[in-house]
Amino acid sequence: MERNKITLEDIKRLKQKKQKITMLTAYDFPTASLMDQAGIDMVLVGDSVANVVLGLKSTTQVGMAEMIHHTKAVKRAIKYAFLVGDMPFESYQVNPEESVKNAKRFMDEGCDAVKLEWFDKCPQVTEKIIKAGIPVMGHIGLTPQTADQLGGFKVQGKDAEAAKRLIQQAELLEKLGCFSIVLECVPDLVAKQITEKLRIPTVGIGAGIYCDGQVLVTHDLLGLFERFKPKFVKQYINLSPKILEAFKQYIEEVVSGKFPTPEHSFTIKKEELDKI
Ligand code: KIV
Repeated sequence: MERNKITLEDIKRLKQKKQKITMLTAYDFPTASLMDQAGIDMVLVGDSVANVVLGLKSTTQVGMAEMIHHTKAVKRAIKYAFLVGDMPFESYQVNPEESVKNAKRFMDEGCDAVKLEWFDKCPQVTEKIIKAGIPVMGHIGLTPQTADQLGGFKVQGKDAEAAKRLIQQAELLEKLGCFSIVLECVPDLVAKQITEKLRIPTVGIGAGIYCDGQVLVTHDLLGLFERFKPKFVKQYINLSPKILEAFKQYIEEVVSGKFPTPEHSFTIKKEELDKI
């Protein structure tokens, strides 16, 4: 399918047109290429790479080096989708100047925007990055980088006070110039209120049906992450057993001599062979 490269304006227009926005995470060339071909609107090089690709326990265990490494691979594959780089833990929480420098690193690699999780100094840092000309996607609700401070991996905004805080955070991020906000693990009717209050699109993950768009971690959708399956995930295919089966069959065929066959081999002319 031939289409144009998706711009920031296109993303904002999708909300105005009441057309749902689609987003997935990618960390490597082949997967990013397939989702781009499938027609995804936005691709996030998520810090969830820590959990689903690198086998780490927490997203706080990846830094700029890992994120840039994966961003480069994904960028090579993307022709159309709007590409968002996820700023890793401590790349924007520590020092505002460093935050801008790190956000620019993602843009230098061809990202169209960066994403920042909410934390106490989030407004100041967001403002600085936006003022430097870098589009920012906010992320509120369950913010995995600071999940310990939120009482763990729990749904956020479940009482009126907590829900009001989320609404205020969303309104402030819009005022500061964010082009979109991820709502993670938020009750559906709280996400609905936020979505209705904002002119910029909300993209939900575990935030119900009323968000302007949806994002999932691709390895969850593909059934490629066996450690944990959150309630909000829909597994569209279960690849793990299929891949395991393919590996077992390969091992069996090499050991038994079924693979390779002449069809997988290269040949040499007899007269050349005779000269050796
Ligand atoms: O890193 C990630 O995958 C994310 C999404 C869950 C929004 O931030």
